[in-house]
Amino acid sequence: MGKTLIAPSVLSADFADFSGALVQIEESLADWVHLDVMDGQFVPNLTFGPKLVQDLRKRSRMFFDVHLMVQTPERIAGAFAVAGADSITFHLETAVHPHRLLQEIRGMGKKAGISIVPSTPASALSEVLPCVDLVLVMTVNPGFGGQELIPECLDKVLSLAQERKRRGLDFLLSVDGGIYEKNAATAIAAGTDVLVAGSAFFNAPDKVAFVRQLRGSGD
Ligand code: DX5
Ligand code: ZN
Repeated sequence: MGKTLIAPSVLSADFADFSGALVQIEESLADWVHLDVMDGQFVPNLTFGPKLVQDLRKRSRMFFDVHLMVQTPERIAGAFAVAGADSITFHLETAVHPHRLLQEIRGMGKKAGISIVPSTPASALSEVLPCVDLVLVMTVNPGFGGQELIPECLDKVLSLAQERKRRGLDFLLSVDGGIYEKNAATAIAAGTDVLVAGSAFFNAPDKVAFVRQLRGSGD
């Protein structure tokens, strides 16, 4: 595909200063802003709702990549669309009718994404692949930043990249969780288009250099 996109996750930002985090991401020359929405039910953590996306939208024209880790995402996806999300990704494990919700997200003029946790096989996505713009492969169990990448999850990226080619589909492949300089090249080699990085980005002393290095890991 094209050049690798870098999506810093605000999960690792100072929650008392989201607008400062947004400035850091913009100044790093990263491509997307990754926004992790957690409900304390699907995952054992809570973050924020559409109001934050709405308020950040007023301050930035960057691509807002919203990752819903919530039960019944069909109840809240529309609110994130109105708030100014550019892509809305929900978990296959949380929706009874994922095909319908993907179409609804596209119908709202947004990129539609689907995600799977480490225990869900890539094959479970087979029927919905033609209606997705983004597949987000979780490389840790969702809920917290700062975990170690589970290497087997990258095998799913590889098989999804092969299936994309075989079927002539054109969704982006994103990986999320435990992405650092040390494993970015392996993720890109497997077929990743979008690298989400939380801790690695916010801990990096030179964020411009970090983004440049991550993006160039596949060269
Ligand atoms: C985890 C979230 C990730 C998280 C990644 O459940 O979906 O987006 O921010 O954090 P790191 O990069 O620290 O693993
Ligand atoms: Zn995420």
